[in-house]
Amino acid sequence: MGIVNQDNITDVVIASLGKHGDITDRQREIMTSLIKHMHGFVKDVKLQHSEFLEACFYLERAGKLCNENRQEFILLADIIGVEVLVDMMTNPVDGNTSESTVLGPFYRENPPVLPKGASTIQKHYENEETAYYEGYVRDAQGNGIPGVIMDVWEDAPNGIYENLDPDQPEYNLRGRFETDENGHYAFIAVRPVPYPIPEDETAGELLRFMGHHPNRPGHMHFIISKDGYRPLITQIYDADSEWLENDSVFAVKESLIGKFMPANAEHGTDLHFQHNFVLQDEAAVSSVAAE
Ligand code: BEZ
Ligand code: FE
Repeated sequence: MGIVNQDNITDVVIASLGKHGDITDRQREIMTSLIKHMHGFVKDVKLQHSEFLEACFYLERAGKLCNENRQEFILLADIIGVEVLVDMMTNPVDGNTSESTVLGPFYRENPPVLPKGASTIQKHYENEETAYYEGYVRDAQGNGIPGVIMDVWEDAPNGIYENLDPDQPEYNLRGRFETDENGHYAFIAVRPVPYPIPEDETAGELLRFMGHHPNRPGHMHFIISKDGYRPLITQIYDADSEWLENDSVFAVKESLIGKFMPANAEHGTDLHFQHNFVLQDEAAVSSVAAE
């Protein structure tokens, strides 16, 4: 069955899978579905050859932008909601465990290790609002987990992450904290402001093609990890931020939204933000995966 027409082309390509080399069941599953959906898409929109070539050259431009500081394909996947969907498939919400969301492109390894309650602020801005962030990291049974490592990072009050801004000190607004013996964490940072994702080059072309905007609501990023628990990559969102209901990368989850409250004198900041996290036991993850 090698002679093709519009009606049999999908079946012909699928039938070729594994004919001239061993493939795993997973490879077969992925390629079968990919071929079906790609062919379905081409037929659905009656894709013309000029449009096909345009797409190929667009992907070529995107590939050329990738280096150790910029992963354009993740950004493109974010703009069409693919990364957040993959994350939801990879980390399904299980019971009362905290929801994850996208990592984003601005994480830096090895942030400064700071004591509980310390500040990540290295440069001040006129429009900044300082905030005391605190809460508990617990297991699914409600026990506080001591010794949990928490990396946090956010944009500055000018809307730019430190590593993209030559006017900010290295690792400004980034830190690594640890929960105390009760599973409690605390640190001082600023209230995150909304910012646009990179909208130059191919990410911008895609946003304009979609008639969408580049803006994200104010958020603080977290990676929360301890041996024996599934690492949690997540963000918390400012309930009063613009773009909360219209995030350019569709990463906002209801359970991750919280309110900045006026701080008490003991906090030494303008605002107070309280959020608890629940980590999933690694053993529970493995037993669900094995079912
Ligand atoms: C971020 O939150 O840092 C981000 C996430 C996805 C795309 C771009 C930025
Ligand atoms: Fe971000």
